[in-house]
Amino acid sequence: MKIDSSIDYNETIKIIRKYPNEKKFTLAILQDIQKEYGFIPKEVMTKISDYLNIPLSDIYSMSTFYKALSLKEKGKYIIKVCNGTACHIRGSNSLIEELTDILNIAPEETTEDGLFSIEIVNCLGACALAPVMMVNGKYYGSMTKEKVKTVIDEYRGLEHEQ
Ligand code: FES
Repeated sequence: MKIDSSIDYNETIKIIRKYPNEKKFTLAILQDIQKEYGFIPKEVMTKISDYLNIPLSDIYSMSTFYKALSLKEKGKYIIKVCNGTACHIRGSNSLIEELTDILNIAPEETTEDGLFSIEIVNCLGACALAPVMMVNGKYYGSMTKEKVKTVIDEYRGLEHEQ
């Protein structure tokens, strides 16, 4: 499945126009755009820049400064691997290696078919289950390399069923 990257600009315009065209609303607009598309598309940045009459470079710096905003399109399944202390000690690095091998992408990248993104995070708040991985909010604890493969196969299987 390819990500459909066609942007519904009507939605963009609606989001932008909810706010008065003043610079102080830039971050609020960007947060709404992030919520709608899962990232900040370049074309949308241009529209915000036109509407607020501020340079595109300002929008760009803001989009890269805040961790909650992303310039990259994410996959359908976002895999978070915990590399916090407890998980690190219990071998999270081998999970990351296995994932990058199976999916053929580096952390913070998305597979070409748009299905999977890998993110490395500091603590998923379930240290007792270390090492921990999460897929779209679902926890997988006491992970092993073998289990990583099973989990990926599970999600690939879901795609074939559709
Ligand atoms: S360190 Fe991994 S869940 Fe806390």
